[in-house]
Amino acid sequence: MAHPLTDKITQQMAMQQANGLLRQRHELNATAHQAESVIDFSHNDYLGLASAPELADALYQGALLYGVGSKASPLVSGYSQAHTMLEQKLCDITGHQAGMLFCSGFSANNALMKTLFSTTDTVIADKLVHASIIDGIQDSGAKLLRYLHNDIDSAARLLAKHPNSVLITESVFSMDGDSAPMSDLSTLCRQHNSLLIVDDAHGFGVLNENRVTVNHADIQVVTFGKALGCQGAAILASQQVIDFLVANARHYIYSTALSPANAHLAFSALALIEQQPDRIIQLNDNIALFRCLARDAGIVLTESKTAIQPIIIGDNTSTMAVAESLAKKGFKVGAIRSPTVPQGSARLRITLNAKHTSAQIHQLVAQLAVLLIDKPIENQ
Ligand SMILES: Cc1ncc(COP(=O)(O)O)c(C=O)c1O
Repeated sequence: MAHPLTDKITQQMAMQQANGLLRQRHELNATAHQAESVIDFSHNDYLGLASAPELADALYQGALLYGVGSKASPLVSGYSQAHTMLEQKLCDITGHQAGMLFCSGFSANNALMKTLFSTTDTVIADKLVHASIIDGIQDSGAKLLRYLHNDIDSAARLLAKHPNSVLITESVFSMDGDSAPMSDLSTLCRQHNSLLIVDDAHGFGVLNENRVTVNHADIQVVTFGKALGCQGAAILASQQVIDFLVANARHYIYSTALSPANAHLAFSALALIEQQPDRIIQLNDNIALFRCLARDAGIVLTESKTAIQPIIIGDNTSTMAVAESLAKKGFKVGAIRSPTVPQGSARLRITLNAKHTSAQIHQLVAQLAVLLIDKPIENQ
C-alpha cells in the first residue's frame, strides 16, 4: 500500500501538471564558455561578473588565504577576517553601522523577519515583496498588512492607522523590475515613527545615484547572487540590531557560516565594480537599446527602467509557449507563472546584462516581434 505522503505528493503533482504549474529544472550547458551557445536573457548576473576571470582568481586566492569552507557556525569558529572585511566594505558603501553575512538572500530575509518580529508586532509590506519575506513574517506570528504595490497613498493609509510599525519594500522588484518610491517611503515612515526595511537584492551593485543607503533604510538586505555574480547575502543595520540578530537568529546561530572564500569573492566583486564603472554604463545602454527596439517593434513593455524587463502575456500556457519558441531559436528567457506572480499576469521575464551585445539584443527583439506581433502565439 502506498504511503499517504506518497499519495499526497502524487495528487499534488498531477494537479500542478494539469494546470501547467509543475516546475522543473533544466540543465544548462556545463561550462561558462559552452553556455555562450545559448543567448541567455534569464539570469540575474546583471554586470556579467559570474564569469569574470578576475573573480575566478579571487575565489582561488580566497580559498588559499582562508580555506574553502568556514568549518563552523559564526558563533563557534566560522567567523574570520574575510567576513569582517566584507561586512566593513558593505557598511562603507551603504553607511550602515554593522552587518552580518548569510549563505543566501532567502535565508537573510527569513532570519531577519522571523527574529525581529513576534505576535505583538504589526508589519506593513508591499503587495509584491519576495516569498522569503512573507514566509519569515508568517513564521514570526506578527500581524501582516499589505499595501498596494508601490502605492504611497495606500502605504500612508496603513501607517496612519498603525504608527510605530515597520514597513517593508524591495528596492527593485524582482518580477516587475520597477523601483520603489524610496524617498517618499522613507519620509512617510519617519512621519509615523516607523522603521523601513528594504530588500535591495536587485538594486545593490547596479543602482548608481538612486542606490539605497542608510539615508533611506533602517535595515537593508543585500544579496551577492545577483549583480555581484557570486553567492550569499548580508543584513545591514545599526550595531544594536545586528548584535540582537547575531544573538538570536536561528538561521545564523545553527548554520555553517558563509565560506570565507565566498566572502573574499564578494569583497573582490565589490572592488571590481568600483574599478570597472563601464559595466554599469554598458548595462544601462543595453536596457535603453532593448526598450527602444521593443517599442519600435510594437511590443508592449512595462514602466521598468531596470535590467528586469517583463513582457506580460497573461495566461500560463501561452507564456510557456512563447518561452519555448524562443528557446528553439537559441534564446533563454524566464517564463514566470502564478503563484510567483498574480494569476493572469504570467510573463516573460527578460533580464539584460552588461555582456549582451547590441546584435544579441536586436536578434532577441526580432524574435519577440515575430512571436508576439506578427504571429501571436495563440494562432500558431
Ligand atoms: C527580491 C529578492 N529577495 C531575496 C532573494 C533571495 O536571494 P538569494 O537568491 O540570494 O537567496 C531573491 C531571489 O531571487 C529576490 O528576488
